[in-house]
Amino acid sequence: MITLDTAKKILKQYGQEHILAHYGELDENEKEKLLSQIELIDFSVLEYLSNENRHSSNRGKFEPLGAVTIEDIAENKDKYHSVGVDAIRNGKVAAVLLAGGQGTRLGFDKPKGMFDIGITKELYIFECLINNLLKVVEDTGAFVPLYVMTSEKNNEDTVNFFEEKNYFGYDRKYVKFFIQDMAASVDFNGKIYMESKSDISISPNGNGGWFSSIVRAGLLKDIRKKGIEWINVFAVDNVLQQIADPCFIGAVIESGSQSGSKVVSKVSPDERVGVLCMEDNKPSIVEYYEMTEKMRELCTEDGQLAYKYGVILNYLFSVDRLEEIISEKMPVHVVEKKIPYMDENGELVTPEEPNGYKFETLVLDMVHMQESCLPYEVERCREFAPVKNSDGVDSVETARELLKQNGIEL
Ligand code: UTP
Repeated sequence: MITLDTAKKILKQYGQEHILAHYGELDENEKEKLLSQIELIDFSVLEYLSNENRHSSNRGKFEPLGAVTIEDIAENKDKYHSVGVDAIRNGKVAAVLLAGGQGTRLGFDKPKGMFDIGITKELYIFECLINNLLKVVEDTGAFVPLYVMTSEKNNEDTVNFFEEKNYFGYDRKYVKFFIQDMAASVDFNGKIYMESKSDISISPNGNGGWFSSIVRAGLLKDIRKKGIEWINVFAVDNVLQQIADPCFIGAVIESGSQSGSKVVSKVSPDERVGVLCMEDNKPSIVEYYEMTEKMRELCTEDGQLAYKYGVILNYLFSVDRLEEIISEKMPVHVVEKKIPYMDENGELVTPEEPNGYKFETLVLDMVHMQESCLPYEVERCREFAPVKNSDGVDSVETARELLKQNGIEL
């Protein structure tokens, strides 16, 4: 572990000396803990606070990208389905559930997957996802290995919940958990927040590190041993998420693409969703706030939006390609969030409004690291019911409505 002098030098270099302000008041254990946190923290991300280093300031030339449409898929359904079912039966497909986020917008203090979205009966978000995956098991006769990413903050609760609920009927042999990395959070002036006199405020560092965390957890060996070639990565908070969808997998394999992404048609030019497009001749996702008005409104000859296909955090990646790009650096996003912190009186404050930044890498940036990505259009009302907020847009209420529309009893 580093010495107090080394810690002081590091903190001085990054203008973070306040972290040691209460060091003299700590007991030996607390002192050790704080020094080891200082040693582990990647202070270099602080450079992303300056505008010129921000990912959004360094984008290339965007161009629209079409998709395999719902109509195309209907025409080729049998072929795609049979290729996908074969891949699943031959053990070539795994799924990764991204569940390391903190779900601050929902304001639920447990892991988001533990949220009960039921009305007259219990129906947890994790349960909805497992039910969807069980449909694939029924269709193919094979269990899909499921790797669940948690964070240090929610791992114990998540694992215990799966145990308590008997994995919602999934075969537990096929489920493995792994923990993602953390990053420090700062105030709007770039000063790292403290949670207590001995604890730096750290939080999960975004969903982009999922593959490197799999590797660090030693699970790549498991993936290789099982002969898995494709990984379907998906978000915890879409209760209509179709996981390891045989048609999607079949379409990507048939197309010869290195990756695939489920997409939905935007409802309006202004919809706040990332759009799958081309950037400097490679597939990429442009965030809604990065699009100019001209890009948003641009139409094709047949009057459709040119930048039409929004992503829903459901991607298929090839393990070979993931291994090739493992050492490539991912862009760091600076995101405004509500960060609990210790005030001058030593009290923990939970803010109502965003009060600082977190540093995150995002899985969507992995798309730009692929030579090709197949946009695969799905019906929004069948496959996209995000639970982001407690009310209003993309909320518990809207997701419940969509679940009902899909015949799911609540
Ligand atoms: P969001 O971007 O919605 O973040 O995550 P969040 O932390 O869940 O929610 P807010 O923004 O605080 O309200 C999209 C997906 O990525 C996962 C989430 O669990 C969700 O499935 N995620 C996010 C991680 O696995 N790790 C992270 O560090 C962040």
